[in-house]
Amino acid sequence: MDWTCDGCYKANQRMKELRHLKLADYLSESKDRQERFARYRSLWRQTESCDLLTDYPLQLDIELSGLCNLRCEHCFQNGLITGKLGFMDVALFRKIIDEGAVNGLCAIKLQVRGESFLHPNWFECCRYAKAAGIMDIQITTNATLLDYDLGLQILDSGLDGIIFSVDDHHQETWQNSGKPGDYYTQTERNIQQFLELRRKMGSSRPWVRIQSAIAELDDDSYKKTREYIISKFPDADAVLVNRIHNFDNECDSYPDLHSSYRFLPCVYLFQRLAVFWDGSVTVCCVDYNNEFALGNANVQSIREIWLGGKIQSMRDCHLNDGRADMHICKHCHLSTQGAHWNINQIAHPLSPSVDVVKT
Ligand SMILES: C[S@@+](CC[C@H](N)C(=O)[O-])C[C@H]1O[C@@H](n2cnc3c(N)ncnc32)[C@H](O)[C@@H]1O
Ligand code: SF4
Ligand code: SF4
Repeated sequence: MDWTCDGCYKANQRMKELRHLKLADYLSESKDRQERFARYRSLWRQTESCDLLTDYPLQLDIELSGLCNLRCEHCFQNGLITGKLGFMDVALFRKIIDEGAVNGLCAIKLQVRGESFLHPNWFECCRYAKAAGIMDIQITTNATLLDYDLGLQILDSGLDGIIFSVDDHHQETWQNSGKPGDYYTQTERNIQQFLELRRKMGSSRPWVRIQSAIAELDDDSYKKTREYIISKFPDADAVLVNRIHNFDNECDSYPDLHSSYRFLPCVYLFQRLAVFWDGSVTVCCVDYNNEFALGNANVQSIREIWLGGKIQSMRDCHLNDGRADMHICKHCHLSTQGAHWNINQIAHPLSPSVDVVKT
């Protein structure tokens, strides 16, 4: 233990047992980039047990765009988000990255609630973060804006990983919104074209994960979906099949959440924070209306928020079996252990060299 947090010591027993680590110092002891990356991935796995707290989040989910070009039936974009949505200022993005780089920030995901490729400066932001030394940069996209030119930009952007969502709900909303053509035909072709472009350029970056959410995760449906994805995208690096959940914060995310799943302390609280386009900071996209209200990156540092009283009391509550009584967390499917634990939380790599287990 080389760093301790007062908040933890004021809290109760299980918080006192947390190991603490000063992230930037630990990473700076690496002899080269490869070791630095290995240390980051090792910390990621260690924090999954929720008994290690670094003095800075390993990852930030940064919302370049709160706006989306679709309104999928099961998504919070379909009437659940109450606040204003927009694009993040590049100046705010840079502020967050500059602070993160000094404190050892390892990873960013350039998306929380919207479609990031709508942001006019996404490329500049991505390059900025890479140049600042962020080791792992990912983005999740509905792939509707993907064409040959965007594909070229992506390959030049410094992105380490891209997650393409290929979902029935995208198809439905595409049709309902009166867009021309067929979602599957167009986006699948665009993703295939992108994979072909990456192959021709001899690049292994960004790794590509195809992700799909289906209504029921029984073995047959899972297998069928996975086989469909692999047949369509044999050059993808990983596949993740999720179960569709209910995003309404007043309801359980799965109807059988409390009967078939066991709550664990939430790993997000030990790994990452989410920053919305306007700077407001929460833990995760499940809190899409920012009810946790941890702070604002325009006027506070991320470090201050990460070590602040609000999130410490959430950690305390989760570590002391209080999660089932907590607003929002009591309905959330993340960090639970259930009948489908083996398949609904883990991305299956198709390529052995790719480490793509993060959600
Ligand atoms: C909220 S979206 C944001 C990124 C981008 N717009 C997209 O669709 O990929 C992130 C992921 O959540 C998935 N998603 C949205 N609503 C969902 C739900 N109710 N259950 C499971 N996954 C969902 C999407 O398919 C997507 O893979
Ligand atoms: S799932 Fe993605 S594409 Fe669909 S509405 Fe939500 S954010 Fe938009
Ligand atoms: S349990 Fe769910 S809602 Fe609560 S912090 Fe974790 S991911 Fe967010």
